[in-house]
Amino acid sequence: MSKVVVMDHPLIKHKIGLIRRKTTGTNEFRRIISEIAELICYEATRDLELQDVEIETPITKTVVQELKGRKLCVVPILRAGLGMVDGMLELIPAAKVGHIGLYRDPETLKPVEYYCKLPADVTEREIFVVDPMLATGGSSAAAIQMLKDKGCKHIHFMCIIAAPEGIKAVQEAHPDIDIFIGTVDEKLNENGYIVPGLGDAGDRIFGTK
Ligand code: URA
Repeated sequence: MSKVVVMDHPLIKHKIGLIRRKTTGTNEFRRIISEIAELICYEATRDLELQDVEIETPITKTVVQELKGRKLCVVPILRAGLGMVDGMLELIPAAKVGHIGLYRDPETLKPVEYYCKLPADVTEREIFVVDPMLATGGSSAAAIQMLKDKGCKHIHFMCIIAAPEGIKAVQEAHPDIDIFIGTVDEKLNENGYIVPGLGDAGDRIFGTK
C-alpha cells in the first residue's frame, strides 16, 4: 500500500519559511532547496533494506548493517528538479542520476517529453523522482508514467511544496507510488501557481525571470 508522507520536522519547516520569502536571493534559495532535499531524502530512504555483514573494527570482529538490494537512482524533472539533486547525493552519493524534461503543449495543455536520459540499468534501481513544486501534478504523473512505460517498478516521488490538487492527481494516476512532501499548501491559483507557495522554483533556483 502506498503512502503520502508529509514531513514534520522543525528544520524543514524553518527552511521552507526561508525560501518562501520574496527577499531570499538566488544563492541562498538554491542552497536551502538542496538542504531541504537532503532532509526529505533521509525520510524517503527510511524503508531501504539492510543486510548483516561481518567486518573487523581495529578492536574486534563485529556484525554491521549495510544497504542491501536495489541500487538507487535520482530522477529530477527538468528544470526545477535539478535543484534537489545535490542534496540527495549528499546522502546517497552512489546513486545514478537520470533526467526527464517535459513541457506543456499550449493547445492540449498536456505534458510532452522533450528529454529523457536514464541509466541503462534503471529498471533494476529504486527511483526517486524529484521536483520541488507539485502543482497540478500533470508533469509529475507523466514523468512517473514514462518511467513505468520503460519498465521501472520501484518509484518514489519527492517534492518540497505540494498543492492538494497535485497530490490528488498523482495519487489517482499512480496509487502504487509513495509521495514524500515537505509541506502541503492551500491551493493553486488561476495561473497554476501554488498559494502561498514561493513563486517559480526554477526561476528562483537559476536566477532567471
Ligand atoms: N511550479 C512552480 O515553480 N511554482 C508553482 O507555484 C507551481 C509550479
